[in-house]
Amino acid sequence: MKNLLESIGNRSRWPARLDVTQSLTGLALGLFMWVHLILVSSILLGKDAMFYVTGFFELKFLHGWQHGYPVLVSIIGIIVFAIFIVHAGIALRKFPISWKQHRIYRHQMAMMKHSDTNLWYWQAVTGFIMFFLASVHLYIMISQPDSIGPYGSANRFVTGNFWPLYLILLISVELHGTIGMYRLAVKWGPFDGKDPRKTRKRLKRIKTTLTTAFLIIGIITFAVYVKIGLEQRDNPEERYTPTGQTSAVHQGGDVG
Ligand code: HEM
Repeated sequence: MKNLLESIGNRSRWPARLDVTQSLTGLALGLFMWVHLILVSSILLGKDAMFYVTGFFELKFLHGWQHGYPVLVSIIGIIVFAIFIVHAGIALRKFPISWKQHRIYRHQMAMMKHSDTNLWYWQAVTGFIMFFLASVHLYIMISQPDSIGPYGSANRFVTGNFWPLYLILLISVELHGTIGMYRLAVKWGPFDGKDPRKTRKRLKRIKTTLTTAFLIIGIITFAVYVKIGLEQRDNPEERYTPTGQTSAVHQGGDVG
């Protein structure tokens, strides 16, 4: 019986399939998060810039930027959520499942002092945090897409008290994303070249630079949303009207 189970286990292609699926969903989410950072930080160029960027995804340009289809943002959100669930579900199989396993892992980490082993640990911790916080954020984006915009988003940070969630999520996602991309590059070796050891060192430097850059951009973006949210605190229902348009035509969300 034991031999039978072992031979089934040995021949199963599922572990390999799950590994590839985890890498592909991770790559898709990592790339999405880099685009997301650029889109959300459009507020750094001004409220108009964020208004037009978010309006673009609702095809507002088809209606003279007066109204669009927020449901399109919900659809993108549902697709991202589905990929996120698959990625997190597959990752679960590698989590330490008992306190004892966790202790053993920590002990080995301390003994080995191997930086890639430490990176795996931080990826697991930040992934666990994101499980909860990213789910809340995604649900809001899917259920209230018409609230996205310079004032609506800023109000969520301040009046909606989302700022602690965003701050923890921001740090987690920037660490998780860049460590994940680094581990993908090391695992599948597309940049290995003649000297994989040298490449690994270079990749690690790129990873650290990207993490730092994304954290700085993310935190400045965070500060700008909080500033606008504080300015709008007495008027949280107001929706942003871009320069050159009249407010009478705007109903619902900034971009709705
Ligand atoms: C289609 C899916 C998504 C959409 C449409 C979206 C959209 C947005 C928008 C509009 C904001 C500005 C604040 C607000 O309006 O509440 C924001 C902020 C943020 N989002 Fe997302 N998001 C998506 C997915 C994700 C995912 C999957 C993560 C992380 C795993 C994430 C992490 C964050 C973080 C950390 C912030 C704060 C950024 C900062 O303060 O610099 N988002 N997102």
